Amino acid sequence: MEHKELMHLACEARERAYAPYSGFAVGAALLTKGGKVYTGCNIENAAFSPTNCAERTAFFKAVSEGEREFSAIAVTGGPAGKAPAEHCTPCGVCRQVMAEFCRGDFLILLGNEETLTVHTLAELLPHSFSL
Ligand code: THU
Repeated sequence: MEHKELMHLACEARERAYAPYSGFAVGAALLTKGGKVYTGCNIENAAFSPTNCAERTAFFKAVSEGEREFSAIAVTGGPAGKAPAEHCTPCGVCRQVMAEFCRGDFLILLGNEETLTVHTLAELLPHSFSL
């Protein structure tokens, strides 16, 4: 799948973000090695800490469906209701979740449909924790 196409799916997922507290809407699209895509959005909570990021929503959907092998994730985010201008980089918790299932060459696509940058997990989370 083309990087732009995966980012397009992340943008669609962002439309479903539930972010009444931060007003910051994030979408993600996770590509499995088998070619399937699992999308996710951030889901906030009045108690704040139960909030789930878009990336983890996508990973947890995929893993709970039996997926274990992933090649790339596209992430897009910014103030809700506006086109995302800045790159939204995954938080540390989401990077650690990625490291649980992916090697350093896992691709992380950031930006929007017009401009995207390609990173690796090794670049965004060097020296990750593992048991
Ligand atoms: N958020 C994500 O969904 N992914 C990230 O990588 C960074 C932050 C969400 C969590 C919260 O709903 C909102 O963005 C503001 O932090």
